[in-house]
Amino acid sequence: MTKIGLMGCGAIGSEVAAAVAQKRAGDARLVALFDQDADRAAALARQLSLSVPIHSDVAGFLSAPGLEMVVECASPGAVKAHAEAVLSGGKDLLMVSSGALTDTALFRRLADLSRERGRRLIIPAGALGGIDAIRAARDSLEEVVLTTTKPPRGLAGAPGFREWESREITEAQVIFDGSALEAIKLFPANVNVGATLSLAGLGPERTRVRVVADPQSPGNVHEIYARGDSGVMRFTLENRPHDRNPRTSYLAVLSLLETLRGACTHGPRIGG
Ligand SMILES: NC(=O)c1ccc[n+]([C@@H]2O[C@H](COP(=O)([O-])OP(=O)(O)OC[C@H]3O[C@@H](n4cnc5c(N)ncnc54)[C@H](O)[C@@H]3O)[C@@H](O)[C@H]2O)c1
Repeated sequence: MTKIGLMGCGAIGSEVAAAVAQKRAGDARLVALFDQDADRAAALARQLSLSVPIHSDVAGFLSAPGLEMVVECASPGAVKAHAEAVLSGGKDLLMVSSGALTDTALFRRLADLSRERGRRLIIPAGALGGIDAIRAARDSLEEVVLTTTKPPRGLAGAPGFREWESREITEAQVIFDGSALEAIKLFPANVNVGATLSLAGLGPERTRVRVVADPQSPGNVHEIYARGDSGVMRFTLENRPHDRNPRTSYLAVLSLLETLRGACTHGPRIGG
């Protein structure tokens, strides 16, 4: 039974906590909750009748008795602030805010720490599919492009969407076209997918990301185009936005839970 601590008790974190409590997330047990907004963590604990300690300081959280793995569902800022402490404190880190890792110096430090401490640093595919194929072909890839299309409300609040907030968008509009590195700065809560794709493939500078606002979009749509020696790959995902947070796709929750099951449970695994 892997003892896990939850970092971030919002839309994704609440689903993880519920799945773990209901034994839908493999052999995992929740031993601590952490959120910068302690009221959110307390509300989640109440809602699920969890009797686990609640922390709003990271030191207390990381010293929860028996804690083996931190599941991060908070923000790229939380990864920047706390990921090194998690790994150097001897815990595994399963993290969804992959956008933080377009900071290549941080990624290198975390990768080194993970090797040195013998702890796992796991980044789920999240709201994307096809990451296994991109990873397998990475050395021979020549081009990788991600086009992310969302209804305008799914981009609201992003620095890269600021000048569009007051305009009426009536048809598909390209809001951004550039590297994954720039994309994550301008759309930190929207394009973790671009970061994950770039980490699996060509890196944040060579992965192209396009962000499109489309009022007719059926959801959060991600289209991957990749070309290389192995051939051409095209993946399209039409993801349903999460009920509580339209910037997040529900598939990101499912992917995290499946990754958690894989990390905590022995048995066959299909597809990597
Ligand atoms: N990899 C993917 O495909 C993918 C997909 C969707 C979302 N995400 C990312 O997952 C993360 C969580 O998404 P969500 O929809 O649950 O967000 P949310 O806003 O609903 O919840 C985030 C929670 O984390 C807490 N938090 C934020 N920063 C913190 C910090 N520095 N320290 C402690 N607590 C902190 C907030 O108070 C909040 O309760 C976000 O970073 C989001 O961008 C990744």
